[in-house]
Amino acid sequence: MIHTDKLTKTFTVKKETVEAVKGVNIDVAPGELVAFLGPNGAGKSTTLRMLTTLLRSTSGMASVAGVDVAADPAGVRARIGYIGQGNGGGHSFRVIDELIMQGRFYGMNATDAAARAQELLKSLDLADLAKRTVVKLSGGQRRRMDVALGLIHSPRLLFLDEPSTGMDPQNRANLWEHILRMRAEHGTTIVLTTHYMDEADSMSERVIVIDHGQIIADDTAARLKANLAGDLLAVEVAAESAAGVRGLLGGPPRAVSSAKTCTTAWSASASGSPKAHGWHRRCCKK
Ligand SMILES: Nc1ncnc2c1ncn2[C@@H]1O[C@H](COP(=O)(O)OP(=O)(O)O)[C@@H](O)[C@H]1O
Ligand SMILES: [Mg+2]
Repeated sequence: MIHTDKLTKTFTVKKETVEAVKGVNIDVAPGELVAFLGPNGAGKSTTLRMLTTLLRSTSGMASVAGVDVAADPAGVRARIGYIGQGNGGGHSFRVIDELIMQGRFYGMNATDAAARAQELLKSLDLADLAKRTVVKLSGGQRRRMDVALGLIHSPRLLFLDEPSTGMDPQNRANLWEHILRMRAEHGTTIVLTTHYMDEADSMSERVIVIDHGQIIADDTAARLKANLAGDLLAVEVAAESAAGVRGLLGGPPRAVSSAKTCTTAWSASASGSPKAHGWHRRCCKK
């Protein structure tokens, strides 16, 4: 459903170069539910915006729903749904009108667009709000309307950029229930971004971890946790004892801080793999 080869995006801001996405290779099979997980600024939205034709890549290629994004962006847009990080509806319009208009933009006739809008209003718990203006919806209701806008033309592939950011836990759970039901009913392939680890863990079959524009892990949440997660042991010692404690813990030899006290945290993987061992040091001057 998605294939990218060394997809790259570089921005130039005031003569400075920002390497937002650094040659990512992504493959998503039909029907998968994949989360791009990463901190703010990791390159998640930029990747999504290239895949959805909103941004032209600097180099590399991407094929989405069987169509090359550079060669046929309109073909890609016709086959996908995209729910951006911000809200989509025009504030002063009624919910129902926004949905029908969106359907018309996708080339649906008025009858089909109206029928599909009614279907989505019902399944996304928005039926009572159809005649309300968008500005009067709550945050959760507005986000559900965004999902309806993205689904109006029944795409086989749906992109959601941070669908639940800023929502309270109840609305988050509610939104997820709707998304998962849509997927179960229509077999839609779903690619979403999130910075909530728990959400990626519990909702997605596969998690692609992005940081500094690169993919640093790509696996099921269960396997990522089994391979990477471990116990974290924090030891606070006087600076003069730090080298001895490190020796006892078996960590790599690192420079001892000249600060008076030093906090050293040692994390070891459950599997004991040396690659997964990490040192973090926080030194506090006194
Ligand atoms: N239009 C733009 N112009 C310049 N820099 C940008 C632009 N869009 C994103 N960036 C930069 O690219 C990096 C990745 O941003 P983004 O993809 O939005 O991250 P995320 O969605 O993971 O929070 C950040 O350093 C961001 O500041
Ligand atoms: Mg983003």
